[in-house]
Amino acid sequence: MNRTRIARIFSSGEANNDITVMGWVRTRRDSKGGFSFIEINDGSCLKNLQVIADEKLLQSHGDAQRLQTGCSIRATGNVVVSQGKGQSLELQASEIEVIGGADPEAYPLQKKKHSFEFLRTIAHLRPRTNTFGAIARLRNAMSHAIHTFFQERGFIYLHTPIITGSDCEGAGQMFKVTTLDLNDVPKKNGRTDFEKDFFGGPAHLTVSGQLEAEIYALALGDVYTFGPTFRAENSNTSRHLAEFWMVEPEMAFCDLQGDIDAATQFIKYIFTYILSNCKEDLEFFNRFIDSTVIDSLERIVAKDFEVLTYTEGIDILTKSKEKFEFPIAWGSDLQSEHERYLCEKVFERPIVLIDYPKEIKAFYMKLNEDGRTVRAMDVLFPKIGEIIGGSQREDDYETLLNRMRETGLNPNDYQWYLDLRKFGSAPHAGFGLGFERLIQFVTGMNNIRDVIPFPRTPGSIGF
Ligand code: 4AD
Ligand code: MG
Repeated sequence: MNRTRIARIFSSGEANNDITVMGWVRTRRDSKGGFSFIEINDGSCLKNLQVIADEKLLQSHGDAQRLQTGCSIRATGNVVVSQGKGQSLELQASEIEVIGGADPEAYPLQKKKHSFEFLRTIAHLRPRTNTFGAIARLRNAMSHAIHTFFQERGFIYLHTPIITGSDCEGAGQMFKVTTLDLNDVPKKNGRTDFEKDFFGGPAHLTVSGQLEAEIYALALGDVYTFGPTFRAENSNTSRHLAEFWMVEPEMAFCDLQGDIDAATQFIKYIFTYILSNCKEDLEFFNRFIDSTVIDSLERIVAKDFEVLTYTEGIDILTKSKEKFEFPIAWGSDLQSEHERYLCEKVFERPIVLIDYPKEIKAFYMKLNEDGRTVRAMDVLFPKIGEIIGGSQREDDYETLLNRMRETGLNPNDYQWYLDLRKFGSAPHAGFGLGFERLIQFVTGMNNIRDVIPFPRTPGSIGF
């Protein structure tokens, strides 16, 4: 079906004859003078196009009653500069047709403001609201920027498996994948006999593509993944999803400093891209959700990130007079309140925290000379806390083997990973960016469930 997208009409800014648009009716208002003013949105941009139709036109099609909020329509006519406010464009319809009706009594999206909690229960209709349309377009633009950033720098886009036999983060927060009959599980010596399962061994949904990305980085140089990852952690917070999207670059012949530089440039690139390409949607968030979002993006692009060690961070926190809910001690993980305090109150910018105690980080991170800390790097953001987790990887065979044993992993399960340290090992580093957390920051949306089309969280699997 031939149609012109509304975004096109507005970006051309010009009058034009014989244009057909198709979309969904947001509102309809009838004037005493015998005209209907119909606001259509087709998802291509935030703005609605106003269609003006003579009542007779609607009646001649028998659509006068059906043309209501929520219905889909086709409208053909001339685009003209509107006489009303500003210099906007409108369509004077010469033909109009309701394609799919929507009972106004039953249609859940009314003109009033709906709560985000309510909209989550109608995830099949919420993309038709301004907020969720804008989020979808921003997700798209940011995905594009992510690919462009890496492609321009010669990184190879790599597809790592969703189903895996290894636990990258070693945290045991994995969903099982099985075809065993859960009502009649085969047993061997009192335990589940996974030899009878589909893959002949335990299988899980991946928590990260990193280990496989390392294989390809140590062959192709620079690679990145961008795909869904899964975590079965039972944390019902506004920053955790059971299924989220992660971007994971992995770079050979790269150390921690190179990793920090890449992460910083990467974030600045995405923000610069959306500031110039998603103005209308960003202004919407700035006006209705959080009046600091555009300013925050601009500041981040302009300023350097603050790099400091975990130990320095703990030091600042211990000396501060702030009342924290969770205690601070060297060796324990930072809570989001601590991360946010450092970013928001102390440095007023994103910070990169490096050299964490090895006990609170994954087995694959390179051990520092002190034997106590690892070359980890977390990028912490105001309002959000951790947005990126990364590190230089352990490239020494013996050290890695020791770390695996220390952390309770069975080296036999990771023989291929150890092999990489045996054959042509090289310093290498990478990081993982939580895509939804970045979108939260960009939009100012409070809850991570509202920046992914269909959130998966504990106790909820609708849609
Ligand atoms: O810090 P994480 O666990 O790091 C890794 O998975 C590494 N393998 C990445 C790498 O070096 N290639 O996760 C990376 C990021 C976090 O900083 C956070 O932004 C996001 O993923 N993340 C989540 N986002 C939403 N819901 C969850 N449950 C998340 N868990 C982590
Ligand atoms: Mg992390």
